[in-house]
Amino acid sequence: MNFVFLGMPGAGKGTQAKIISKKYNIPHISTGDILREAVANKTELGIQAKKYMDEGALVPDELVVSLVKERIIQPDCEKGFILDGFPRNLEQAKILEEMLEEIKKTLDAVFFFSLDEEVVVKRLTARRVCSNCGAVYNMIYNPPKVEGVCDICGGRLITRDDDKEETVRNRLRTYNKDTAPLIDYYKKKGLLYTIDASLSVNDVTKEIERHIKK
Ligand code: AP5
Repeated sequence: MNFVFLGMPGAGKGTQAKIISKKYNIPHISTGDILREAVANKTELGIQAKKYMDEGALVPDELVVSLVKERIIQPDCEKGFILDGFPRNLEQAKILEEMLEEIKKTLDAVFFFSLDEEVVVKRLTARRVCSNCGAVYNMIYNPPKVEGVCDICGGRLITRDDDKEETVRNRLRTYNKDTAPLIDYYKKKGLLYTIDASLSVNDVTKEIERHIKK
């Protein structure tokens, strides 16, 4: 079960990847999470990546590719993995194919989360993330029981730096220019499954599972 979750920022890829990862016991590999951790720890990678992330641009391929390469050869990926946020352009998609070929694996499905841009802006500007455990909330669709406090661990909820409306709009421009061409790329390979990401979290999960079970 080697999956890619593809779609606009805020389409719900991370939310669903966490659920599917738990249910099917396969790791959730989010390049965004790995990069944010590097930024928080002020590592060399984090220092270089930060300026691109703050602008809503893509981090250069050479910084991202090696992260994924190291991660998918780990033993916990033997049964499968979910790539969330990678690949993000045609170059990365081709590199992924080569990487998988080297380790004698293939992709089983690319789930494309389809959603309207204005819904994305609404979702992202209302997103809050736990600074301790990473749980994701939404002030409109899935608010915490106590404002500003994580239901799970009691950690402080924060707004991601790149969830300001201006940066969200830049991320959408980057998505349309660099990432959207992947939809056709994977459709031609017969790997694309389109998911209606405007449904509730539960219904989106059901849609994904319907395809997995097939
Ligand atoms: P990354 O972290 O990958 O961000 P993204 O792709 O923009 O996606 P998001 O995490 O914003 O959204 P999501 O689809 O996971 O939505 P979520 O589930 O949280 O990347 C960040 C940056 O890192 C990039 O801009 C780039 O600079 C860099 N980067 C990362 N990967 C890279 C790569 N491969 N190459 C180069 N650079 C890279 O949901 C959003 C909100 O909606 C939440 O509040 C959630 O609670 C809510 N929600 C979710 N589902 C539903 C639903 N069904 N109904 C209602 N609300 C919902």
